[in-house]
This record gives sequence, structure tokens and C-alpha cells, in this order.
Amino acid sequence: MKKVHYMTIIAVLAILVVLLGVDVILLSGKQENKISKAEPLKENPILWTPPDTAEIPSTENGNLIRYGRNLIVHTAQYFGPEGSISQSENGLNCQNCHLAAGTRLFGNNFSTAASSYPIFRARANRYISLSERVNGCMERSMNGKAIDSAGREMKAIIAYLKWIGQGVNKNERVLGAGTKKLVFMSRAADPQRGKVIFVNNCASCHGLTGEGKLNTNGKEYLYPPLWGPRSYNMGAGFYRISKLASFVKNNMPFGTTYHDPVLTDEQAWDVAAYVNSQPHPVYRHLQNDWKNVAAKPFDYPFGPYADTFSERQHKYGPFSEIKK
Ligand code: HEC
Ligand code: HEC
Repeated sequence: MKKVHYMTIIAVLAILVVLLGVDVILLSGKQENKISKAEPLKENPILWTPPDTAEIPSTENGNLIRYGRNLIVHTAQYFGPEGSISQSENGLNCQNCHLAAGTRLFGNNFSTAASSYPIFRARANRYISLSERVNGCMERSMNGKAIDSAGREMKAIIAYLKWIGQGVNKNERVLGAGTKKLVFMSRAADPQRGKVIFVNNCASCHGLTGEGKLNTNGKEYLYPPLWGPRSYNMGAGFYRISKLASFVKNNMPFGTTYHDPVLTDEQAWDVAAYVNSQPHPVYRHLQNDWKNVAAKPFDYPFGPYADTFSERQHKYGPFSEIKK
């Protein structure tokens, strides 16, 4: 009797050990599963680090890169209304929008510019080259004329873009590129609320009438204009409210970074609505943009559209019902 009892206990214990053992293995298996599921966090692309300008080589190509950087930082000195080469643009510098010579995280930087071109663009409905993209900003963001794509200046700008993007491979995504997207509001962005935000947070530099302020040399802006005849035109990226709002949220008032934004998303949407409700130069080729109407971005403010939402809703939102 007693023996049987012991045998039973031993058997039960043995079974328990086996079961527990299996369970431990199962558990550890689950644990592993959990870890591998959580891994995408680690897989997040690493924050982009721009190369150091001190490392631009002292070669012929190095000189071209340095010249390209200078053209981006002081564009107006070369191509503005008082430009030494030609009068091809409105007086803005590329750097006014591509902050810190295109190196600022979420400041519209040039990390992936060289590696992504040629790229298929829905607007043009074909592949475009990097120099065409640069001239796109000349014609739209700088409301100017294209510069010679075979000239030394374009070669220098491209050399700089390649140098900046040297660590980024084709089709690679990096964290910190572009500007951080904002969440949509459930209401339309409101120019009237935006005006109050503008007066309190922006006008001290950009001026109450958005005209900006020229530098003491009179050739470049200390504070670039946000609307009026010297600002980006209606065909520019910033004339789309999502692009402007996300740039502003992560970079303005000047000195702000994505770590520590001053404005809430809502305030950024509203102030962008105010800035884009003010007059901007007409882009003369606007009519020829977007031959494929269905490919227009949700916040492209000019019809016709493939959907039934108004131009006003496409300009100011609410966007969630447009962008399903
Ligand atoms: C008024 C603001 C503004 C100015 C000035 C401006 N850009 Fe841009 N640029 C933009 C915006 C907005 C985009 C689009 C960003 C996006 O699509 O997210 C852009 C995109 C680009 C791109 C494509 C980047 C990529 O990764 O696809 C290049 C290259 C570029 N700009 C170069 C220039 C150069 C060179 C100049 C000066 C000649 C210039 N830009 C002036 C606003 C500006
Ligand atoms: C302390 C001064 C200052 C304040 C305040 C400020 N900005 Fe700017 N802003 C600048 C400077 C300087 C630049 C150009 C940056 C450069 O060239 O490095 C700039 C550039 C810009 C640009 C891109 C260039 C252009 O002309 O289109 C936009 C858009 C912009 N600011 C919007 C705003 C908005 C909206 C606010 C308020 C929320 C604001 N800024 C507040 C100084 C300021």
C-alpha cells in the first residue's frame, strides 16, 4: 500500500517535472516570440547624422561641394533680385526652408535627396532627375526660373547633395528626413485662429504683414517673407498646408526643434492655414500640373478632383474623410 503510494507520488512528481519543463520551454518560447515581436522598435531607422563639413576633401570635387553648399546657404546672393550670376529667383535662400544647409533633422533636410533620384513623380507622371527637382524648387518655392542644368552652379548643388547623402543607400529610409507628419484634426484648419498664433509667435521676425526683413547687405533675408510677391508661389510644396504645418511645428519659431516643439499640432495647422490664406504669387504653369487628377494629394488646393470634396476642404480640411 505504502509502496504504491510512494510510486504514485514519484510518478506524479515525474509528470509534474516533465510538464513544468515543457511549460518552461513553452514559456521561454513565448518569451522569445514576444522579444522578436517587439523588435521593430530596434529596427527603427537610426537618426540620420549628416557628414562633417570639415571632411569635405581639398580636391577639385571638394571645391565644387563647398561651392554647392554656399549656393544653398546664400542662394539670393547669386540668383536673387540682386544676384551676381542672374536674377532667377525671389530672394529666398534654399536654406530658408532646408534648414542648416539641409542638415537639420525634420527640418526638410537633404539626407535622402541624392539617393532617391531619379524618382517617379505622380505630378509629372514620369521619372524626374535630381537637377529637375532642384529646378522645381527654383520655379515654385523660389518663384523663379530654372537655372542651366548643365552649368557649374547646378553641378555644384548636385555635388553637395551627393556629399550630404553619402551615407544613405538607394531606397533606404532614414529617421529625420522630411518633416514629421502631423495628425489630422477633426475640424478644418482655421485661418482666423491662425492669425492670433501668427501675431503672437511669428510676426516678431517675419513681420505683421508677412513681408520678412532683409539683411543689412540688402541681398538676402534675415527673416524670409511668408507671403506676398517675394514668397513661395501657389505651385510650391508649402502651399500645401500639411507640408507647411509640419515644417512650422518642428522648426518654428526659429530655433525650435522636433524634440521640443513650441506649437501644438492644432496651432501649427491653424497658423499654416493663415499663412496660406494670404496672397502668394501665381504659378504660371499651374494649369499643366497634375494631368492625372486622381493622383492629386489630399491637400492640393486646386481642382478639378477625382472626388466630390470642395477646393476649400482640400485646402483646409477636415482631411480624414478625403484621405481614406
Ligand atoms: C519656400 C521653401 C523652399 C525653398 C526656398 C526651397 N525648397 Fe526645396 N523643397 C521644399 C519643400 C516643401 C520640398 C518638398 C518636401 C516634401 O515633399 O516633403 C522641397 C524638396 C526639395 C528637394 C527634394 C528632396 C527629396 O528628398 O526628395 C530638393 C533636392 C530640394 N528641395 C532642393 C532645393 C534647392 C537646391 C533649393 C534652392 C535652389 C530649394 N530646394 C529651395 C521647400 C523649399
Ligand atoms: C526668431 C525669429 C523667427 C520667428 C519668431 C519665426 N521665424 Fe520663421 N523663420 C525665421 C528664420 C531666420 C527663417 C529662415 C531660416 C534660415 O534661413 O536658416 C525662417 C523660415 C521660415 C519659413 C520658411 C521660409 C519661408 O519664407 O517660407 C517659414 C514657412 C516660417 N519661417 C514660418 C514661421 C511661422 C509660421 C512662425 C510662427 C509660428 C515663425 N516662422 C516664427 C525666423 C523666425
